[in-house]
Amino acid sequence: MTKQADGITPHGGQLINRIDTPAEREEFLAQADHLPRVQLNERSLSDLVMIAIGAFSPLNGFMNQADYEKVVSDMRLANGLPWSIPITLSVTEEVAEPLKEGNWVRLDDSNGRFVGILELTQKYRYNKAHEAINVYRTDDTKHPGVQVVYNQGPINLAGPIWLLQRDPHPQFPTYQIDPLQSRQMFKEKGWKTIVGFQTRNPIHRAHEYIQKCAMETVDGLFLHPLVGATKEDDIAADVRMRCYEIMLNHYYPKDRVILAINPAAMRYAGPREAIFHALIRKNYGCTHFIVGRDHAGVGNYYGTYDAQYIFDEFEPGELGIVPMKFEHAFYCKRTQQMATTKTSPSTPEERIHLSGTKVREMLRRGELPPPEFSRPEVAKELAIAMNVYTFEI
Ligand code: ADX
Repeated sequence: MTKQADGITPHGGQLINRIDTPAEREEFLAQADHLPRVQLNERSLSDLVMIAIGAFSPLNGFMNQADYEKVVSDMRLANGLPWSIPITLSVTEEVAEPLKEGNWVRLDDSNGRFVGILELTQKYRYNKAHEAINVYRTDDTKHPGVQVVYNQGPINLAGPIWLLQRDPHPQFPTYQIDPLQSRQMFKEKGWKTIVGFQTRNPIHRAHEYIQKCAMETVDGLFLHPLVGATKEDDIAADVRMRCYEIMLNHYYPKDRVILAINPAAMRYAGPREAIFHALIRKNYGCTHFIVGRDHAGVGNYYGTYDAQYIFDEFEPGELGIVPMKFEHAFYCKRTQQMATTKTSPSTPEERIHLSGTKVREMLRRGELPPPEFSRPEVAKELAIAMNVYTFEI
């Protein structure tokens, strides 16, 4: 029997578990050499895992046409449940052609290793420009998320999946905490309210500020950096995770924070991705979710607070997780602390604005972020990682 999830109700009512049972696994392995194969790229592999562990509940597989089309146009699954990002397995015509609906397909990783099964229920074509404009609000192929859509195959394969086995994460095994486990941990800690934090950048002081503002009103922080595929110039996940470890050791009350990896791939879909990120954290058991400035944004495609406004397109309570919205935070020279325009009387000249992008640019120029930007221990770690000189702190 599948263990029931503790805490807040997962999206759609039940936490999905698509990791095969030992008996199913035996059956899959027995057939492995005779099944048609589809090779997954990094994003599809991480989608497979996210579905299997319940992080994408209520999805139990790659989306069929009815779900896909409704998600793209209306931000809902065919049954009306909110969902903002298409989860599809897109392949070329050559790959799709021999596959028969109703049959099993063997899913391999990029090394040809058997990782999962798709029960193929449907093959369908889709409109890339329509997806780009609706989901990413642009069809500019310079947008990294749009680029993926335009580069992938024209046919989506749909159907329920099974993950063959849940392997420990090769880089961060101790931080691999799946939804069933995080829910259990929250329960053991007696946390009733938990705020989730998404990030794909090294932690800076604005992150710390908004996390701590949130921590003042909830029982615990679920620090959940994304470690799936990101665009090339984002800072590597291992560096970011080391920065988090440093921060927890020096600047956070350890018993009020759980650090865990989010194995999802980044879409850079801004507002739509903020909803997606919130629903994922709901499945991990969070009751609240932080949405700051330009959440999941890239370049200048989205307005600073678009990712907050989009939550108003749903009825109160419909998403089942509460967004905690934060203004653009900065270091205020007048009050000598982190602040936003909601709390600081400063003039623009008295504000040191922080962003992950700025930190990256400075480091690439060989400059170290100042203490108003990053905690010195983190700046040092970033400098070492980026081969900038080492220095005394
Ligand atoms: S994201 O792509 O994962 O959203 P990032 O790691 O930069 O990128 O941001 C993580 C979270 O912190 C997001 O909710 C983002 O809106 C918020 N954030 C980042 N910088 C600031 C800032 N200076 N002020 C307020 N919120 C911020």
